[in-house]
Amino acid sequence: MLDIGCDVLSARQFDRNDLARLAEVAERLEPISRGEMVCRVLEGAVMANLFFEPSTRTRISFGTAFARLGGAVLDTSGLETTSIVKGESLADTARVVSGYADVIVVRHPTPEAAKIIASAALVPVINAGDGEAEHPTQALTDFYTIAKELKARGKEIDGSTIVILGDLRYGRTTHSLIALMSVFEDISFRLVSPEALAMPDAYAEIARQNGHTVKIARTLEEGLAGADVIYATRYQSERFQIDPQVRDAAEKLRLDRTNFRAYAPEDAVILHPLPRDEVFGELATDIDPLPNLAVFRQTDNGVPVRMALFALILGIADSYQDHVRAPAWPLRRRPANP
Ligand code: CP
Repeated sequence: MLDIGCDVLSARQFDRNDLARLAEVAERLEPISRGEMVCRVLEGAVMANLFFEPSTRTRISFGTAFARLGGAVLDTSGLETTSIVKGESLADTARVVSGYADVIVVRHPTPEAAKIIASAALVPVINAGDGEAEHPTQALTDFYTIAKELKARGKEIDGSTIVILGDLRYGRTTHSLIALMSVFEDISFRLVSPEALAMPDAYAEIARQNGHTVKIARTLEEGLAGADVIYATRYQSERFQIDPQVRDAAEKLRLDRTNFRAYAPEDAVILHPLPRDEVFGELATDIDPLPNLAVFRQTDNGVPVRMALFALILGIADSYQDHVRAPAWPLRRRPANP
C-alpha cells in the first residue's frame, strides 16, 4: 500500500503496482532532485527528521528530497539531544512532534520503534531504519536502481539472479530488499554469508512463499556464478561482537576486483547500501573503477525516490508540475566518475 496519508513501515506493505507508480513519479522528479529545476509545491510544509541512530545518506537524502520540493526540514540527531533522555516515551515524543510537522521520518535502534511512533503520531510516519529489522526506503532506492541498471543491460528484474552478500542477520537493508523484490516473478535469490550471520528465516520465507528460489552459499565461487545483481552489505559491528571465526569467514567473502572477475558474469551490477567498512573491507575499493559498481548512482537515486514517496503520501504526485520553474542560480556540478 502506498496511498495518500499512509505510513511507510515495512517493505512488505508494497505491491508491484506501488513500485511501478513510485518509479514513474521518481523518474519525472529526477531533474528537480538534481537541482536542474526548482519546485515549491511543499512550501509551508514541515518534515521532522528524527534520527536516534547515526546516518549520513538516509537523513540527508530525506532532507534534500523534502527541501527540493519546497518544504522545510527540522533535524534531530541522536537520542541524547531529545527529551527521551529525561524519560519521555516514544509515544509521547511522536504525539508532540506530530503537532509541529506534517510528516515524520524516524530512525531508531529498536525494532518496532517506527510502529510505536506511527501509532501515536497524527501525521504519516516513515521508517528510516528500525534496529536490525527493516529499512524500507533503502529497499525502494535499491529497487529503483536495480530496475535502471538491468534495463541499461537489456534485462528485467523478473527472472533475474540476485546475490545478497555479507551480514544478512543484522543487515536490515537485506531484509527489506528480499521482501520487496519478492513482488516480482521468478527470481533466484542467492544468500551468501558467514553461517553465524545467515538471513533470518522469516525473510527468506517471504521469497519462498512467493515462488522464488532461495539458495544458501558459503563461498564466493558458488555465490557469484550467474549473478545479475550482487548486493553487498556491511558487517553491523555496532549490533554484535565480531568473533575470530566470523571474521575469518567474512574475510573469505570480501568482494574485490580479483574474485569479481574470477566468479561473476562480466555485466553483473554491484550494489551496496553504504556505508562500506574501510576496516573490514566487505567491498574492496579496487572495484571502484569498474563500471559495474553502481553504488554512487544508487545513493544519488535516494533523492528522487524519497521525493516520489513524499509526493505520493502527501498527494502532490500530479500537481507538483504547476509549481516548477528554472533555477535562478547556475548549476556547478562536476561530472560523475564513473
Ligand atoms: N544506507 C544507509 O542507511 O546509510 P546511512 O546509515 O548513512 O543513512
